[in-house]
Order: sequence, then structure tokens, then C-alpha cells
Amino acid sequence: MARVLVTETIAEEGLQLLSDAGHEVVVRTGLDHDGLLEAVADADALIIRSATKVTADVLEAAHHLVVVGRAGIGLDNVDVETATKRGVMVVNAPQSNIVSAAEHTLALLLALARHVPQAHASVQRGEWRRSAFQGVELYGKTLGIIGLGRIGALVAQRANAFGMRLVAYDPYISQERARKMGVTLLDLDELMATSDIVTIHLPKSKETVGLVGAALLAKAKPGIRIVNASRGGIIDEAALAEAIARGHVAGAALDVFAEEPPTNSPIVGLDQVVLTPHLGASTAEAQSKAGVTIAEQVLLALANEFVPFA
Ligand code: MLT
Repeated sequence: MARVLVTETIAEEGLQLLSDAGHEVVVRTGLDHDGLLEAVADADALIIRSATKVTADVLEAAHHLVVVGRAGIGLDNVDVETATKRGVMVVNAPQSNIVSAAEHTLALLLALARHVPQAHASVQRGEWRRSAFQGVELYGKTLGIIGLGRIGALVAQRANAFGMRLVAYDPYISQERARKMGVTLLDLDELMATSDIVTIHLPKSKETVGLVGAALLAKAKPGIRIVNASRGGIIDEAALAEAIARGHVAGAALDVFAEEPPTNSPIVGLDQVVLTPHLGASTAEAQSKAGVTIAEQVLLALANEFVPFA
């Protein structure tokens, strides 16, 4: 029997699979860093989502750890290099929430174009200000997709149904493959200069942190709108707030932030933004898939069996 420490909320079905296999499942959400160091000391497996930072000291404190399971897409909150050096396997559920992330992107796109949260708040206050919330149509607009991977491609499919013109930046995709998706590949500067709305679908890495900063924003088409439901830190929030204040960027819809929650972000409080608390993967369907997939992966790792790409 292994001890499985779960530090974030994952689907009950996933927890059940682990206990049905005879393992001790210990759910400890809301731990601070010291609490995590103490809780992980006797764990054989650690299951997390995006909030738990599995840094080198966490891995060093985990004397029996065999596997870290990330119930979601990225691995940017896990020090994979240190884990590998220490012989700790790192697994994730990369397909589990791609549809939910794409759908949340479309929700943000529409909310931003039509000022839905601002209008909703106004009606709730007892106001009736129809002219204050004139929006723009998506139809006929150019959508720039930065990152045409699994989620970017699903966003392209859905935006196509709205009659948007699709362009993308992705150095790993061929022109031919993009063409089959109805997308024209451009370099990043061209994409920023021609897009009415840009949506980001990139992993967080040394190459992508700060990618959308002051220099790139200066090249953007005036009045551009920006959506990010991928990872915080890819947009330089101070530069974005400044570009919004100048009117160069008309607005932004963000689900992810450099620091979560974004207590000190200059973006919070601006009238032109739509903000959600990292909800891209927060649907019943995605959480069920992520929880079950990660439980299955962790069970294989604990049994010392081959763990296939999920
Ligand atoms: C993901 O990367 O799949 C999500 O960010 C996971 C989460 O919602 O915690």
C-alpha cells in the first residue's frame, strides 16, 4: 500500500480509483510551502493541479516519492529536471482539458467583445445603460492565434464558425498543416500588426515568459484585444496595463496571471478587462477526465509498470 498525497481538488472518481487499488489517499488542500514540505515527507505519490509548486526543496523533502502526477496539461509548476535526477517520475493528463480550455477562450473572446461582465454588473446595480456597452462583432475580424497546438487548433475550429479570418504564429507547425485548419501562418510581428484579437496558447517556458511585452505590444494593430487562457507570465502585465491606459490596446481577457491570485497586478481594476480565476480547466467533464487519467497514471507508476502517454 502506498501513501498518495493530494494537495489540490481533483475529481472524486480519481480518488476512488486510488483507494480501490488499496492505497492510502491523503487529501491536504491549501497547504503553504512549509506545510507541503512536512506533508510530502512520507508520500509515495504526490497529485497536484496548477497551484502547488513542486520545487527542488519539495522533492528533496520527499524521501519516498516515486511519482508526481499533474492533473492537467502543463508541467511548468514541477521542477522536472530535479525530479528526473532523483528518479521521481512526472506524469500528467495532457488531453484532459483541451476542449474546456478552448471553450473558455471563446467565452472570454465573446465577453471581451461585448463587455458582458461589465454590462452584467451594471444591470445588477439597477442601471440600464445600453449605449455604454456597445461592442464589436467577431465576424470578419482577424484572430491571431499564438501557438497552434492542441488547444490553439480547437480555438481555430470554433472561431472559424464565427466567420473570423484566422492567422497564427507557431514555429513548430508547417504551412500545409495550418492551411488544412484554414489558418495562415505569420511571423509574430506580422500577426500582431494584422490581428484585431490575439489569443495565446503557449506553454510557460524560458522562451515564452514575457513574450508579449512592451516591444511586441508596440507593434500591435491599434485597438487590438488580447486573450490569454494559457499561462500567466507570458504577458508582461505592467506593459499590457500601460498599453491599455494609452488606448493602444482596447482590452484584454485573462484567465491566468504571473502571480495567482493577482493581488499586485496593475491589470486588476481596469475597466477594459475581463478576468477569471484560472478557470480554463474547471468544468465537470475536464475535471473528471483529469482526475481519472492522473489516478490511472499514478497507479501504473506505483506498480512500476510502463506509463503510456495519456
Ligand atoms: C492545466 O494546465 O491543465 C490547468 O491549468 C490545471 C488547473 O486548472 O489547475
